[in-house]
Amino acid sequence: MGIVYLNGKLQPLAEARVSPMDRGFLFGDGAYEVIPVYGGRPFRLGEHLARLAQTLSGIGLANPHTDAEWAAIVDQLIATEAAADQAIYLQITRGEAPLREQAFPTPPLAPTVFGYASALKTPGPDQRAQGVAAYSMQDIRWLRCDLKTLNLLANCLLRQAAVARGGAEAILLRDGWLTEGAASNIFIVRGGLLLAPPKSQLMLPGITYDLVLELARAHGLPHEVRPIAAAELKSADEIWITSSAREVLAVTRLDDQPVGDGRPGPVCAQMYAWYQAYKDSLRSGDRT
Ligand code: PDD
Repeated sequence: MGIVYLNGKLQPLAEARVSPMDRGFLFGDGAYEVIPVYGGRPFRLGEHLARLAQTLSGIGLANPHTDAEWAAIVDQLIATEAAADQAIYLQITRGEAPLREQAFPTPPLAPTVFGYASALKTPGPDQRAQGVAAYSMQDIRWLRCDLKTLNLLANCLLRQAAVARGGAEAILLRDGWLTEGAASNIFIVRGGLLLAPPKSQLMLPGITYDLVLELARAHGLPHEVRPIAAAELKSADEIWITSSAREVLAVTRLDDQPVGDGRPGPVCAQMYAWYQAYKDSLRSGDRT
């Protein structure tokens, strides 16, 4: 990521500058997206841009670009990175403020638009073969987790607490119900049935979450979308993390106890294979 996009211009990262009075810096006042790119083509771009539009509208920040303009920015960013598989990061803040005042300035400020491309880091063969450890924690975030906003301090604290114990993810529970991971959605399998918590303001509507449910439907895998209690999580046969970067990844230890037999489960392996086949079909056809 030697080259970044900032306010309409591609420029070297070393030269890119944002004001310390930017509301993103002062308040975490902004939105972001992470869009995977496979074989040089953005994956589910329309869905990612729709979620970005929803976040911007949810925080009262005018979308600075049309979808066609965003698509052009994404294409410019893809061209800056050599790897064929990439992650595109886009961030919009409410802009540089004259004063540190919480209420929005009027008239609205010019937003700060930032983006970069980096090589996509999917889990390596060891993590795939063995799965990862996770820790369950109380979800201490705010009540609009459906919006992909900055202000990720709670997520950082939760993820760090998991990493400090040798885990790869924090799995979050609110009032005894599963919400999601610090930066992922969570699925479980019990008795061959795939379960996912329903979308609500308490979790991010993951693009990967939607695709996993689409693939379950397409392949006739029994599944239900319904609230999942902590006890069901803790006695699940399989637990999966899903996100754009981690795709579908097995959690094989939860709170230092094995999940199922402690190895990635067969339903996870099946879903991972469907997911890879779906990605491969994009390389040959023109699905997005
Ligand atoms: N995070 N839930 C949270 C809290 C997330 O931050 C993410 C993704 C997801 C999964 O969403 P998707 O399938 O659309 O990637 C769920 C990104 C990758 C991040 O913050 O880097």
